[in-house]
Amino acid sequence: MRILGIESSCDESAMCVMDLSSERVAVVVENFVATHDMTAYKGVVPEAAARAHFELLPQMLEKITHLLPSLDCVAAACEPGLMGGLIMGACVGKSVAVALGRPFYSVDHIKAHALSALIENPSLQFPYICLLVSGGHTMLIKVYGFDNMQVLGRSVDDAMGEFFDKIASYLGLGFPGGRRVEEKAVLGDRARFKLKLPKVKRNEWDFSFSGLKTAFIKIIDTLKVDAGGDLSESDMADVCACLQATVERICIQKLTLCFAKYPQIQNYCVAGGVASNSSIRQAVIELCEKYNKRVVFPTAFLCTDNAVMIAFAAYEKALGGVCELNADVKSSLCW
Ligand code: KG4
Ligand code: ZN
Repeated sequence: MRILGIESSCDESAMCVMDLSSERVAVVVENFVATHDMTAYKGVVPEAAARAHFELLPQMLEKITHLLPSLDCVAAACEPGLMGGLIMGACVGKSVAVALGRPFYSVDHIKAHALSALIENPSLQFPYICLLVSGGHTMLIKVYGFDNMQVLGRSVDDAMGEFFDKIASYLGLGFPGGRRVEEKAVLGDRARFKLKLPKVKRNEWDFSFSGLKTAFIKIIDTLKVDAGGDLSESDMADVCACLQATVERICIQKLTLCFAKYPQIQNYCVAGGVASNSSIRQAVIELCEKYNKRVVFPTAFLCTDNAVMIAFAAYEKALGGVCELNADVKSSLCW
C-alpha cells in the first residue's frame, strides 16, 4: 500500500511517500521536511507558520508528481495543532485525494508520535507506554492499538521542549534551543543547582514546568548580577547541565511511577523532539535496564515532527478503506 503523508500541525512542513506491507513494514520512498525559521519571533507564530506551509507544501508536492498515480491513499495530520497549518495540510491532502480519486484519511498528530516507535520496531508489542516529549506536548500515553490509546498524564502548563526552548532563549541560545542546551551541557556541572521536582496535586501522572522555568530564570538572573553582565561559558554550561539533569529526573520519576502502577507492561517508548537528547536517552536506557523493561526510541528524524509517522499512523484506517474527506480539523486534543 502506497500512502502520501502530510504534516503541518506546527512549524514543520513535511511530506512523504511511503510503502507499507501487510506486515506493517515501512519503506520510505520520498521524504521532505522543512523547519520554518522562527528565530526572530523566539517562538512559533501561527500565521507565519501557516504562510510557510502555504509556500512549502505545494513545492514538496511538485517534487513527487511522478509518484502521484501510484498512490493508494492520502493522509494528513488534522488534529491537534495550529489551526492555520492544519487547514493547509488537510486542504492539500484532500485536494490530491479528490484529484486522484483515492481515499483521504485524517490522522491525529499525537497518536502518530505515539506510534512512531513501531516504524523501526515492528515487534514492539501492544500495550506499551509512550512518554511523548515534544515542543508542543508532554504526555504519558498507554497505547493499546493504532486507534486505542489512553492519556495517563500530561503537562498542565509548558511542554518539556517548550521549557528547554524558553530557558535557551533566556540564555541567548536561539530558538528552538533544546539541541543547543544539550551541546552546552556537555562540559557543565550537573549537580551545581539542585532543584525540587514539581508535584502536580490534581494527578500524580501530570507534568508541570512553569515553576522550574521561574526557578531557572532566577538562577540565571543571579548569575548575571554576580558576573556583572553576561554569563561566563562555565556558568552557561552549568545551567544547561542542571536543566538537562532536572528533565532526566522528571522522566525517571514518571517512568518509575509507570513501572509501579503497570508492572505487567514490559514495553516502553520515548518519542517527540526531546527524545533525541542523548543524555535523556541514556538515563532512560539505564533505568529500563535496571527494571528489566524494553525501551525503544525512534531515530532522530522520526522524533521531531515528520510526515512518515503521519503516513504510518493511517495504516489501519487505510486497511478499512473508509474515506474521511469530510474530516474536520481540530486545534485541541479530543480524547
Ligand atoms: O517533536 P517536535 O518537532 O515538536 C513538536 O511536535 O512540538 O520537537 C521539537 C522540540 C523543541 O522544543 C526542541 O527544542 C526540542 O524538541 N529538542 C530538544 C533536542 N532536540 C530537539 N530538546 C532537548 N535536547 C535535544 N537534543
Ligand atoms: Zn509533534
